[in-house]
Amino acid sequence: MTTAATTPSTMGNRSSDPLHFVDVDHVRFYVGNAKQAAFFYASAFGFQVQQVSDLTTGARRSAQYLLTQGNIRFVLETPLTDAHPAAAELLRHGDGVKDVAFTVFDAESAFRQAVRNGGEPAQEPTETTDAHGTVVTASIKTYGRVVHTFVERRGGYAYEALKKGGVFAPTFAHAKQSALNEYNERNPCGLKYVDHLVGNVEEGRMNHWVAFYESVLGFKMFKHFDEHDIGTDYSALMSKVMASGNNLIKMPINEPAPGKRKSQVQEYLDWHAGTPGVQHLALRTDDELHSITELRRRGVDFLAIPEAYYQSVWDRVNAMLVKHGHQAVREDHNKVRQLGILVDADDEGYLLQLFTKPLQDRPTLFFEIICRRGSQSFGKGNFKALFEALEAEQARRGNL
Ligand code: FE2
Repeated sequence: MTTAATTPSTMGNRSSDPLHFVDVDHVRFYVGNAKQAAFFYASAFGFQVQQVSDLTTGARRSAQYLLTQGNIRFVLETPLTDAHPAAAELLRHGDGVKDVAFTVFDAESAFRQAVRNGGEPAQEPTETTDAHGTVVTASIKTYGRVVHTFVERRGGYAYEALKKGGVFAPTFAHAKQSALNEYNERNPCGLKYVDHLVGNVEEGRMNHWVAFYESVLGFKMFKHFDEHDIGTDYSALMSKVMASGNNLIKMPINEPAPGKRKSQVQEYLDWHAGTPGVQHLALRTDDELHSITELRRRGVDFLAIPEAYYQSVWDRVNAMLVKHGHQAVREDHNKVRQLGILVDADDEGYLLQLFTKPLQDRPTLFFEIICRRGSQSFGKGNFKALFEALEAEQARRGNL
């Protein structure tokens, strides 16, 4: 497994495969109050509140905020009336990820191919044009409330322009400069792009969704873990990592495995109206120590890693790195411990990672901050320590 996913610098060559995905175009969240959520993600995670679509820009159905950092684009959307489908969905599921949208060359072809492959339509191809350019979108359903939108961009809305701060879509306008945006420019958190997006599905349904990503979207299995890899005495889960054909987009799928106590995946499902959904987004940084220092300073709440973890981690990780001829972990070991960061290694190198606590009151969506130094894995060696930390949190919530 040597192909590293890197953030694309250009659209690349137009592919004959309609399901060639250029990038994660954006991740759309349905939230109860987008104006306030935008302030939270900007303040806590250093995003620029770059563009707005609301009543003042000609939008009547919903308000949307485009938050950007590096090559990450989040759209926070809130319905303006109860006629908008997001209104009922928010009532049932709470805030969370609605859409993992992919940039494509031809949205209609991507949609038709996915539907021919067995995908269920969520939205037929829709073209929106104004003086600036054209955006074509079409969506298919995936697990639970989540959809995948294929986004085709032309003219002033082209992907290359968007990456340079161009307007996102019709009805969007650049937000006026704010003290928060200026502060974030001066104090970057260093988040670069979405490394992976993890879905939690019901027990017994993982293989169904693995087959869905293979047959409908042409993804391939990248890694796979079972309850022996990912278990504590109490709870367990199984996970398969699905990756797009070009390995650019990675979507692990978890299902709960039976244990003595409630799995973290089951806790998610219980608080997500019994339906599957996106459990976490992993955001990539080139400097884990800097990013975690800055995020902690801003008040982000991370899982607390037991002190005992650091008594064995360096032997475990460095032994693996030496065995495969790699340099030892170059980050200051004391700082890693002080910041409570997790470290893991495999035959390709190592990674540093840390997980936030849930980002809203329901124990559902959280973020992972990840830095890869060669490893393309997901921190298998950390699962035990991590799950014990997660279970301590579940117990605090009365959900274990
Ligand atoms: Fe992850």
